[in-house]
Amino acid sequence: MFSPVLILLCLQGVLAAYLGERGVAFVDPTTNGGSLLDNAGDGFGEPLNVIISGLSSPDVLTDDGIINFARAIGFSKECLGIHLGAPQSANLGDGNGFVNQTIELREDFGNALLGTCLESLIGGNHFRVYRQNGTLADTGALFLAVSKEEDIEEQHTIVPDGYDIGRDLLAANAVNDGSTTSFGGVTYYTTAENITGLLPAGAAGYVEFNIAIDGIVTLLTVMIVV
Ligand SMILES: *[C@@H]1O[C@H](CO)[C@@H](O)[C@H](O)[C@H]1NC(C)=O
Ligand SMILES: *[C@@H]1O[C@H](CO)[C@@H](O)[C@H](O)[C@H]1NC(C)=O
Ligand SMILES: *[C@@H]1O[C@H](CO)[C@@H](O)[C@H](O)[C@H]1NC(C)=O
Repeated sequence: MFSPVLILLCLQGVLAAYLGERGVAFVDPTTNGGSLLDNAGDGFGEPLNVIISGLSSPDVLTDDGIINFARAIGFSKECLGIHLGAPQSANLGDGNGFVNQTIELREDFGNALLGTCLESLIGGNHFRVYRQNGTLADTGALFLAVSKEEDIEEQHTIVPDGYDIGRDLLAANAVNDGSTTSFGGVTYYTTAENITGLLPAGAAGYVEFNIAIDGIVTLLTVMIVV
């Protein structure tokens, strides 16, 4: 009655339905009315200038996974859980509409516990994470708004060119000159690719703090090395 082939086909169907659009790097948010700028709540937005590819190892794309990867490249969860800024939201064109950031991570300056407090005081790199997982584009890709900030005296504004600088620093830490990175017993091998045409270049006038950007989005593919 139940041939092995039939069972296999059923399993495949269930798996395909479960995985949705998994198996692609990401879907351009603008194809379904989304944007590569998030909503900072003041009429401006921050560029989603780094994408962690949906083709990365699945464990990297979970909340715990991205936190561990962030630690491997020098970031921690926010200083003792203190949020210094309001959450921002983004529409990734996946059918979920505007969704608040999943998580915000700050550079830890080599000390996973106190480092982020230091970052809050002296400024540093930070990023917000949004997940593309709505039914219209269920890629699992993570879209990051990365920036380099002034210190707390400057009210956490972004340094001039802070979006491009933040993106390049994060990508350089992740790629690590072609070497692996690791934290908590997990080792990562990351490759980067620059994509133009997703974000406009320039963009003064609607990018937060009127900071011009070069329009490059860096796509990172993060593989766990076993
Ligand atoms: C984001 O979070 C804020 C504060 O918790 C809340 O007021 C707002 O409604 C949320 N926005 C979205 C789009 O969920
Ligand atoms: C999609 O991602 C959001 C944000 O990380 C999460 O809260 C939600 O549970 C996810 N939805 C599904 C269907 O996995
Ligand atoms: C991406 O562009 C930035 C800025 O021009 C550059 O520094 C970086 O090396 C580029 N990365 C790749 C992988 O091409």
